[in-house]
Amino acid sequence: MRVIRSIKLMQKWALHALSQGQTIGFVPTMGALHEGHLSLIKQCRRENDFVVVSIFVNPKQFSINEDFSRYPRQERKDQSLAKKAQTDVLFCPSVEEMYPRDYLTVINIPRISEQLCGKSRPGHFQGVATVVLKLIHIVIPDILYLGQKDAQQVLVIRQMINDLNCPIKIKQCKTMRASDGLALSSRNSYLTETQRKEAVILFQSLNQSKKMILEGERDIKKMIHITSEAIQTKTSGRVDYIEFLDADTFKPLTNNFKNILITIAVYFGKTRLIDNIILRSR
Ligand code: PAF
Repeated sequence: MRVIRSIKLMQKWALHALSQGQTIGFVPTMGALHEGHLSLIKQCRRENDFVVVSIFVNPKQFSINEDFSRYPRQERKDQSLAKKAQTDVLFCPSVEEMYPRDYLTVINIPRISEQLCGKSRPGHFQGVATVVLKLIHIVIPDILYLGQKDAQQVLVIRQMINDLNCPIKIKQCKTMRASDGLALSSRNSYLTETQRKEAVILFQSLNQSKKMILEGERDIKKMIHITSEAIQTKTSGRVDYIEFLDADTFKPLTNNFKNILITIAVYFGKTRLIDNIILRSR
């Protein structure tokens, strides 16, 4: 496995691979790799000639009072995990390499960036879109692999790729979970022992909502109320949002309840966890 830190070298490597008719699959990450990332890398390995993984904790997607400085960084461990998962290139640029002093451009995708997570994290998706577009220009992949846990991130990136005609496919891969159902996330490491036990409530709430829908419940306000009440009475969690939306557009559900995204964000202390499930009718 090669570790590349320079943008020029990364582009040179990618252009050479493409000129040989090889395909490049790309898994962008902020490091602190866990089984969720590794399953993306494994899928990428199966489907491409070359696998590139990036590790870059992107300052532009954190606001001032968020966890940029304490975000887990473990490059040595990540290198050995990525190598074991048969990554060909690990791209690890510095902040100065990605955003030199005179850097100005930002990518803004209005409306869909402003709802859900965008409400409590203003500017977050602008930062995500900006870095992902830069990474796409640097790694020049055929396929980009993203996790379903970050469903809104996938929606925003998909919109950008369509709007800006980027010649690349997106694969949204299923959420990996701990044995109790908690979605794997680098931020789980912030949780205290008690919060970690309580955090399973996100997955339980999604399943409870799914059960209500399958049993014919159609009153969204009622389902949101029941779920929020359960979280607030059973745990120390503070609900940021629970929403039932059209899974493809993220718009409010119409009457047919066909493709449903149930999505949730809950704070445990300062740690904000997200999760979702998608119900598709056949
Ligand atoms: O999902 C993440 O880890 C990040 O948002 C991403 C896509 C690597 C961009 O920094």
